[in-house]
Amino acid sequence: MSDIHSLKQQLRQVIRQRKQQYSLEQRQAWSQEIEQALLDHPRLQAARVVMLYYALPDEVDTRQLADTLLKEGKTVILPKCVDKQHIEPRQYTGPDDLAEGIYHLLEPVGKPYDALGSIELIIVPGMSFDSKGHRLGRGRGYYDRFLAQVPQAYKIGVCFDFQRVEQVPVDDNDRVMDEVICNKTL
Ligand SMILES: Nc1ncnc2c1ncn2[C@@H]1O[C@H](COP(=O)(O)OP(=O)(O)OP(=O)(O)O)[C@@H](O)[C@H]1O
Ligand SMILES: [Mg+2]
Repeated sequence: MSDIHSLKQQLRQVIRQRKQQYSLEQRQAWSQEIEQALLDHPRLQAARVVMLYYALPDEVDTRQLADTLLKEGKTVILPKCVDKQHIEPRQYTGPDDLAEGIYHLLEPVGKPYDALGSIELIIVPGMSFDSKGHRLGRGRGYYDRFLAQVPQAYKIGVCFDFQRVEQVPVDDNDRVMDEVICNKTL
């Protein structure tokens, strides 16, 4: 494969090693800071339809945020991985309506959310981001394919500060974030 591909794999390895240096407690405290920064964000406050993700244990924890936004009356969308390449957006109605899918992700059990054009803001997880909004994901291209279908949505990447790097290696398929929020920028 290309140089970019191996550079991406190397960076994923570096980030995986960095993650092991911080306890779950530390990451939870940072996650709460990030959740608060998102709640204070004018774009999020203004948006009625928001997509986010239901975090895995090693990601910025946005699970509480999903419930807070739901209580505020927003339409909350979560991804479901339907095969090895594609995300299907689904409406989140509460923690009881989630079921484990591939990659042990908890995903909504309901119908696909078809009104893609109404999604105003998307909170995007990542292994690494740089200051230009370039993103490194887990390496399947799920978000690159999906984000191409929602060009109107404002995209906020979230990560812990130790996941930021000077330059993320990217190719033509990689979608750029409009903004990146991490714990140190607060
Ligand atoms: N829109 C697309 N159409 C076809 N192939 C794509 C598209 N987007 C990405 N890919 C391919 O998918 C593979 C994985 O992409 P990449 O390494 O950027 O994943 P990633 O962004 O880190 O993963 P993820 O979004 O799943 O977290 C690459 O071979 C890439 O070329
Ligand atoms: Mg990519």
